[in-house]
Amino acid sequence: MRPRPEVLASAPVVHGGAPPGLVDFSVNSNPLGPAPAVLAACRAATIDRYPEPHAAPLRAALAATLGLAPDQVLVGNGSSELLWLLALAYLERGDRVLVVGPTFGEYARACQLLGAVVTELRAQADDAFQPDIAALVASARALRPKLTFLCNPNNPTGVYLPAKVVAALLDAVPGLLVLDEAYVDFVEAPWDARPLLADSRLVLLRSLTKSHALAGVRLGYALAAPATIAHLQAVQPPWSVNTVAIAAGLAAVEAGHHVAAGRRLARAAVAYLSDQLRGLGWAPRPTAANFLLVEVRDAAATTAALRQYGIQVRDCTSFGLPAYVRLGARPLGDCAALVAVAGRLATAEVV
Ligand SMILES: Cc1ncc(COP(=O)(O)O)c(C=O)c1O
Repeated sequence: MRPRPEVLASAPVVHGGAPPGLVDFSVNSNPLGPAPAVLAACRAATIDRYPEPHAAPLRAALAATLGLAPDQVLVGNGSSELLWLLALAYLERGDRVLVVGPTFGEYARACQLLGAVVTELRAQADDAFQPDIAALVASARALRPKLTFLCNPNNPTGVYLPAKVVAALLDAVPGLLVLDEAYVDFVEAPWDARPLLADSRLVLLRSLTKSHALAGVRLGYALAAPATIAHLQAVQPPWSVNTVAIAAGLAAVEAGHHVAAGRRLARAAVAYLSDQLRGLGWAPRPTAANFLLVEVRDAAATTAALRQYGIQVRDCTSFGLPAYVRLGARPLGDCAALVAVAGRLATAEVV
């Protein structure tokens, strides 16, 4: 039995992650780990019953916290599930999709699996990885993509676009603009994208996986017009958000202070790493997020050398950036350990 041709053509996306025992700078989540109340809620979750098919209690709690109606919210098994649902709900073979790159690889993969033709408009290192907005607007008008993906702040560049730029892009797209705010909770002074939901072409994605360090639980949500949410729900498998994740989410909604503390630590960690690594001759880029894109000579060699010392970083070759590694914020002791190893490697002229 042969699957659809898109299945055979599809290659898995490379992601971060490290085996136990390594200090993992390759994943970008709250450096404090999960909040104690969230851990307690996970432990207390009832796991011998089916959850609500579409996580209704958590949806209601998120809606109340965000000042939206429950029919403007859909909870997913990570925000990844939600972007896959967007592809599934809207794309037919041959449809066009625009991706503002370099960025998270699942946007393109999900869309290509549905047979869509993906155009990536890449920001360039020479432009400080700022996307060319005029070119984006022109492409949106020329290509007429059904979906346009913009990650803000962007993974892996850390670039954060202001409201007026996103609003200009939203004006130009004929289809849906998917604004992925997976890392927005780590921005020092973020702007509020919710007012843009007045335009029914906007879909906002957010990730509790990142804000609350719940990578293993998997939890994210989409905010959009009720009709869009209904389309996404129509293609979402029932029970995809499990009982433990719903319990974690309900506790997380009450634990905003933990996100704020994680943001403060993340800001301190990236500032420290940036400063120290620059002193060693590495070239960190400015970042608005809880991770740092660092120019090195050879990402693969640097990643391998750091691994010898028990440190995992994200080799950005798979983003098309073979001279960059990405470092996620971690507690300051771990950051000091990374700087010490980087110093040894620099002295030995290994990297
Ligand atoms: C930009 C971006 N969006 C979404 C995700 C997926 O996050 P989640 O764990 O919520 O599925 C990631 C994970 O790395 C990401 O980098």
